[in-house]
Amino acid sequence: MDKKFFDYIIHGGDYNPDQWINTPEIWDEDMRLMNLANVNSATVGIFAWSMLEPEEGVYNFEWLDKILDKLHANGKDVILATPSGARPAWLAQKYPEVLRVNENGIRNEYGVRHNHCLTSPVYREKVRKINTLLAQKYKDHPAVKMWHISNEYSGECHCELCQEAFRDWLKAHYKSLDELNEKWWNGFWSHQMTDWSQINSPKDRGENHVVAMKLAWKRFVSDSHISFYENEIAPLREITPDIPITTNFMRMYDGIDYQDFAKHLDLISWDNYPGWDRGETGKEALCAAFVHDTFRSMRDGQPFFLMESTPSIVNWHEVNKIPKPHRQAQSSVQAVAHGADSVQYFQWRKSRGGHEKFHGAVVDHCGHENTRVFREVSQLGADLRKLSDVVGKGYNGKVAIVYDWQNSWATSVFCGYNNNERDYFSECVKWYKPFYERGIAVDIIPMDGDFSKYDLVIAPFLYMLKDGTIDRIESYVNGGGQFVATYLTGIVDEDDLCYLGGFPADRLKDVFGLWCEETDSLPEGMTNTVEYNGKEYTAINFCDILHSTGAEVLGTYKADFYKENPAVTVNGYGKGKAYYVAFANEDEFIGDFIKDITDGLDLGAPEFSIPDGVSVRKRGDCTFILNFAESERTVTLDKEYTNLITDEKTEEITLPVCGYAVIK
Ligand code: GAL
Repeated sequence: MDKKFFDYIIHGGDYNPDQWINTPEIWDEDMRLMNLANVNSATVGIFAWSMLEPEEGVYNFEWLDKILDKLHANGKDVILATPSGARPAWLAQKYPEVLRVNENGIRNEYGVRHNHCLTSPVYREKVRKINTLLAQKYKDHPAVKMWHISNEYSGECHCELCQEAFRDWLKAHYKSLDELNEKWWNGFWSHQMTDWSQINSPKDRGENHVVAMKLAWKRFVSDSHISFYENEIAPLREITPDIPITTNFMRMYDGIDYQDFAKHLDLISWDNYPGWDRGETGKEALCAAFVHDTFRSMRDGQPFFLMESTPSIVNWHEVNKIPKPHRQAQSSVQAVAHGADSVQYFQWRKSRGGHEKFHGAVVDHCGHENTRVFREVSQLGADLRKLSDVVGKGYNGKVAIVYDWQNSWATSVFCGYNNNERDYFSECVKWYKPFYERGIAVDIIPMDGDFSKYDLVIAPFLYMLKDGTIDRIESYVNGGGQFVATYLTGIVDEDDLCYLGGFPADRLKDVFGLWCEETDSLPEGMTNTVEYNGKEYTAINFCDILHSTGAEVLGTYKADFYKENPAVTVNGYGKGKAYYVAFANEDEFIGDFIKDITDGLDLGAPEFSIPDGVSVRKRGDCTFILNFAESERTVTLDKEYTNLITDEKTEEITLPVCGYAVIK
């Protein structure tokens, strides 16, 4: 879905002039440097609450007035933040209930950030008040173009207010205690609850073995973040209805169901910090691509914002290796290829003191523009200006991989089978890789996404099924879709209750034409072998032991007592096909299998061949080519294109390490 917020790619980042309030000459220098760096925006005020409200009810917007005016005079757009991510000391001192309580019931002291109760009425009211004032004050400021809500919502609180809110959430969700006891299977270990007040949040020193309850708590915490956010934005929607709203997500952070949260935002934004050039650059690029596609898919292919990235190093790796020159520019262009309409940094100017003073920034402690990092940022800014053709262009793939936040929770909390190897994210990335390597766009969707848009849907390790999923898989395949499932599919419902009558759940046995009697788990170093299409592949970690009840067997196990049992099957169902891959495996099988089942499908791959280590992605009528290999690569194109970066016509492109080209 196309959606344009600006006519150009936003290039800027977190700007914290409040840290430099006593040296206002630095503000003027910032404006000069921003112009030199080809930066066109600044995100202001993220952690500025104590500067905006130094004492309760005493406000100081003067500095912000000045800085917004300066930014506007210099042609910069402002993304204005609400300051709830960190609170003033006076607030915590006067209203201790705003501080978080840990799972041992101990209330945190004032300090750090993201240390607030999500339920506290006082905190919600204070946040709403400061947000209201910001909106009233700046509703007509010509520089203010977008709201940045708080910062990286995360964490949880176990105070009494949250316990009560959790019980209310459960009452709304389960209707009666009997229903809850049944769904949580509380007959096990004598856990029948006789009063709602007996239920507390999960914790190590208390209840932590009722899996359904752990899932309920995760859903409750996620909903609490969303309702906290709704409280934050209510005044903004009312006072500034035309200013779009976002909040910055953190990669695949598991504490919030981002696929659910996404419905409440005008656009998605996220903070990308890959560990480049630490020995696994190809893998970092692959994972970053997957995450970008996850966020692009959250609002039907709509462009998203890269809200943060570092222009050089971070400070929170154990060892903070400097990425190769131009790597950060390449990383930024990768984001644009996958749908980003912004490239933003944390942060504009390095802090002089505090926890993040050694984190990379556009302007270093030396304070001038004569640095490698500054020059690279400035060069990238110039390159981004040439890419305005892609701005607002959303896109969807013809293939979807189901990565579902709640299935991620469910696969991580149960106890059984192979407890060491349950990395749902890595499993999904493995299935994404063959498409990524062929330059084919893939959407990453939740299990309640719209399957009907896709030629092929792959749902690795779909252990937990949300209500309605069985029907949706069935009707998708019945209507002509191709669906791939893997080991441990359709085992439990939303409350982690096992489906009875054999796996996969209910009618999925008909859709796949099989049932699974047992699942074997292979300890590290132990493998099985699967023969598929005359070739042998290694099975690791999980092996479902299947009975075909109609499915055609495409591959079989070669060892152990289930030798000759089906390991890869396909079942014609209605107008479509349902594939089942019963074992976990390395990339090689997945690559070959995907090649076979997509043979003849037009999935939008580029017309030219892609050298090893190079990533290609089409967006609008532009094609992005990025060299993530460790040496130079030459790409022979299928016809003449214009390289938008160099403005040259070309049929062949040679890219140095970290190089990129955008052709049209
Ligand atoms: C982000 C955060 C920023 C800054 C950055 C450092 O997660 O939102 O405020 O701390 O990390 O990498």
